[in-house]
This record gives sequence, C-alpha cells and structure tokens, in this order.
Amino acid sequence: MSQKPHKRVRKVVFPVAGLGTRFLPATKVIPKEMLTVVDKPVIQYAVEEAIEAGIEHFVFVTGRGKVAIEDHFDLAFELESTLKTRGKNAELEILKSTRPLFGAASFVRQQEPLGLGHAVWCARDIIGDEPFALALPDMLIKGVPGCLAQMIETYNNHGGNVIAVEEVPHEHVNRYGVVALDKQFDDRTHSITAMVEKPKIEDAPSDLIISGRYILQPEIFSKLAEQKPGAGGEIQLTDSMIELLTDQNFFAYRFDGKTYDCGDKIGYLAANVAYALDRPDIGPKFRPVLDQLIK
Ligand code: G1P
Repeated sequence: MSQKPHKRVRKVVFPVAGLGTRFLPATKVIPKEMLTVVDKPVIQYAVEEAIEAGIEHFVFVTGRGKVAIEDHFDLAFELESTLKTRGKNAELEILKSTRPLFGAASFVRQQEPLGLGHAVWCARDIIGDEPFALALPDMLIKGVPGCLAQMIETYNNHGGNVIAVEEVPHEHVNRYGVVALDKQFDDRTHSITAMVEKPKIEDAPSDLIISGRYILQPEIFSKLAEQKPGAGGEIQLTDSMIELLTDQNFFAYRFDGKTYDCGDKIGYLAANVAYALDRPDIGPKFRPVLDQLIK
C-alpha cells in the first residue's frame, strides 16, 4: 500500500523581535539580525537557506525598531533606478536577489517580548493549518545543502516534526533546549523521547541541543496558546513541543554543517572569518591578512 505523501512545507517563520542587548551599542538602532557577516545581514543567510529548501513564503515575527528588516526585503526603488541609470548591473543583480516575490513575505509584530513560544504563536494566522519551518536566524548554519533543505528531505521521508540537533560541550547544555533520543531510523535521524529547555548541567538528558531549525506541525499553535511561562519566565516553544510529544512523532536530525551562534560575540566573529575565508572573491586576499594578524 503506498503511503500518502506528507503535506508540503511551504512557509517559514523567522522570529526577529529580540532586542539584541548583547551587541549594544551596535544594536541601538540597527536590528541585530541586520548585522553583517562579511557583506550580508545575518537574516539574509537564513532566508537564502529557506529559499534553497524550496520554501515559498517568509513570515517575520518582528517588533518595534525592526523596520530595517522589512525595508531590506523590499524593493529599494530609488537605489535601483539610480544603479540602472549608471549601468551598475552587478550591483542591481545583488539587490534583486534579496527580494522575495511580490506577496511572498509577511510581517507580524510580537508586541511584548514574552518568549520564543509566544513569538511563534504570533505567526499562527499566517501559517494556518499546514506544517511549517522555523529558523532562528542567530544560529547561522553553514552546510551544503543548507540545514533546512536537509531537514525537508527527512520530513518528506518520516513526516511528523523534525528538530535539528547537534552535540555541544557538556558545560554548555544549560544555554539551550536539550533532547533525549530513542530509536534510530538512519545515520542522522532518531526519534525524540524527551526534551528540556535550559536544564541544569547535571540534569541534562544528553549533550544534544536544539540548534534553531525546526519543521513543526500546526497543532503546536493550540499548545502554545495555553502555554504557561517556563525557563527564564518566558513562554518556551520547547515546553509546547514536550506536550505535543504525546500525540505526534518528533524526530531529531543531526544535520551536516557547522553552526555559528551569532547571538554571541565570539560566534559572530568566527562566522565572519569562516564565511570570508570561504568566499572565492575574498578568501584568497583575506587569508594572508589573517595570518599576519595572528602571528
Ligand atoms: C532557543 C530555544 C532553545 C534552542 C536555542 C538555539 O533559545 O528555546 O531550545 O536550543 O534557541 O539557539 P534562546 O536562544 O532563544 O534562549
């Protein structure tokens, strides 16, 4: 008997309402998601990862002071017409590549910073009754193909909910959501038996953390609607996923790629170096400069 294909993942949610206090004063007027890694804002890497995964609609959960994100994904009419007049075609192409199709981006405000779970819940009307991807742009994941494309392939095989996970040093587990695994399906996919948000190091069920990429079923929204504050006094997505775990399958997917936590200064600086070294137009010129600096 052939199995019914799983409902397609067409939409992605980017929670971008966070204040970015760790990057002050840089983030006083610039949203932290607009800080650049080499020459592209952090948020654009996440959007490109979603496009590569075949996602068609981009939902940004924003907040006050985040209009630069909306403008970044809009048509910069005056700039583009000036570039056209001056014959700057390469620059025009760069700008065109930043723009979603007309009507393919939605922006909704999270009016109060009540936590990641609350931010995701704010996207419920735009997502509707279909599975969706969720990407936390701070976690920049360098992979070929990108992490979301890998996860969608796993989702197409297994259905359910898919959570990207990776191993971190044991002493860091208290900064993240942590999963416990059971049955293995393939090299990279296990079923999840338990999750805990920001556990004490001694209570963590493993060293495998939730890495900021998810494929979720829409039933998460009814759990989020009822969710009480958890770790840090915030409405936690992980707590609602724990509740859904009794009704639905959750798969942990160990993606092939490297994560740079751009919510942290060291991770952000490392991302700049790694992406610069990898760029064919910049890497060869940058490497000797870097070598010189390190000497
Ligand atoms: C969120 C999630 C957490 C996950 C982390 C990845 O935490 O709640 O489960 O491990 O993102 O960055 P936050 O970074 O918002 O505290």
